[in-house]
Amino acid sequence: MQDSIFIGGGGENYGDQQGLALKYANRHGLIAGATGTGKTVTLQIMAEGFSAAGVPVFMSDVKGDLSGIAKPGSAAFKLHGAFTERAQKIGFTDYGYDAFPVTFWDMFGEQGHPVRTTVAEMGPLLLSRLLELSEAQEGILNIAFRLADEQGLALLDLKDLQALLVWMGENRADLNLRYGNISPASVGAIQRRLMVLENQGGTLLFGEPALELSDIMRTDLDGRGRINILAADKLMASPRLYATFLLWLLSELFEELPEVGDPDKPKLVFFFDEAHLLFDDAPKALVDKVEQVARLIRSKGVGVYFITQNPADVPEDILGQLGNRVQHALRAFTAKDRKELRMAAETYRDNPRFDTEQAIREVGVGEAVTSFLEKKGVPGIVERTLIRPPSSQLGPIDPSERRALIDTSPIAGKYETTQDRHSAYEILAQRAQDAARAAEEAERREAEAEAAEREFKAARRYSGTRVTRSTSRDTRSNSRGDTMGEAIGKALIKELKGTTGRRIVRGILGGLFKGR
Ligand SMILES: Nc1ncnc2c1ncn2[C@@H]1O[C@H](COP(=O)(O)OP(=O)(O)OP(=O)(O)O)[C@@H](O)[C@H]1O
Ligand SMILES: [Mg+2]
Repeated sequence: MQDSIFIGGGGENYGDQQGLALKYANRHGLIAGATGTGKTVTLQIMAEGFSAAGVPVFMSDVKGDLSGIAKPGSAAFKLHGAFTERAQKIGFTDYGYDAFPVTFWDMFGEQGHPVRTTVAEMGPLLLSRLLELSEAQEGILNIAFRLADEQGLALLDLKDLQALLVWMGENRADLNLRYGNISPASVGAIQRRLMVLENQGGTLLFGEPALELSDIMRTDLDGRGRINILAADKLMASPRLYATFLLWLLSELFEELPEVGDPDKPKLVFFFDEAHLLFDDAPKALVDKVEQVARLIRSKGVGVYFITQNPADVPEDILGQLGNRVQHALRAFTAKDRKELRMAAETYRDNPRFDTEQAIREVGVGEAVTSFLEKKGVPGIVERTLIRPPSSQLGPIDPSERRALIDTSPIAGKYETTQDRHSAYEILAQRAQDAARAAEEAERREAEAEAAEREFKAARRYSGTRVTRSTSRDTRSNSRGDTMGEAIGKALIKELKGTTGRRIVRGILGGLFKGR
């Protein structure tokens, strides 16, 4: 088995082969650099390398330029000459064109298999972030999740959550006693945010069948890891949805995968493109969570690689965990740029041959300052590396080629049709209906009782004699006895005041809910 993936040539004349050790590939990494410096191609050749080594890969395709990984490059391509020359320069003697197994995913279900999760799996912390909730609103969302849990109300899609919030609003009085003040303004605010999310495509993200993690961790029969590409061009219109979804996926991997310690090679490598979106005005709690997930997911055999223009976009605690680095050129126009450049340079182990800071400023397109973890997981001395050319096609494949790959993928058909299981929405709707029916029934009985009462009075008036009537409360033979149903009926009739049963259902649902 190979023990590293080939990245490019460093050293004096780019002749020293630079590789990323598979053994340390789960210790995370960083691909950074100004726009147009070669980040996407670096991502592409890393994905190729991992796939060839039998490691499945997950990545998002922000600009729609990564689908070419599924197709071999071509001698007819305009950069064929440049690629071959580059390969020669770095001593990449067995360079050739090759295609890799790709699974396409798309939240919108257009450019890949639909990818979904459930509201419950997303959890209140991430959902609060997604909805941009205030602390008070987040508190209410937490109560909603707890209620759903206690009451066995499955929260699968957004309408489940909406229904639960409506219910909470209506049963505020009862809930306040147990959970503290549930302000209608906050509930209303969450409901409005949910509607915004729905308009951004959130409806598609939440539901079933939910993504099974094993489907992004597949290896083909020939031993190659599948490269999962999430279409993110449209998704990027809602940056928060994009970032939260990827973060959810990471935390899911973290929670579901077994401990494997330090495996010979990762179980999965996860590339997080436009990683700055994750941290842009993120609350501390969330950054802490990312930091924690990054730290702990290593032992599950998952390597996370952040891709961003500027390493300063990544919080220090997290940056410190990114052991494998490809730093493409950074610009130094402003004082702030220069400061950030210096800070970026300081994180590397100096190479006596060159000045790191200067190198980061000078490297050409497709060239980078690199450092990979070596023996015992110690960062290697920094190198100026000419990155290898890709074997697969640079740039996207045709939509028809893409369609064919989607239709013939090993999971074709598995996620294509949504299921709408019996969950909170349906259960609450059913309870409302049952309660309405109970109220109507009580109304009917009360009417009957009143009719009987009238008859009784009339009889007394006309007969002039005293008609005896049992007043004993424990007699069950009498229609005014105090059976459970009738007691509720009486209480209801007071509220009814001539309206139909349905109107008061809201008031009594709380009681029914608690009773379960
Ligand atoms: N390793 C490489 N081998 C050959 N050519 C490369 C390599 N890296 C970059 N290039 C060339 O440079 C171009 C720009 O690179 P790339 O698209 O990766 O930049 P980027 O940093 O992702 O830019 P952006 O921030 O705009 O997405 C490529 O289209 C390709 O022509
Ligand atoms: Mg790019």
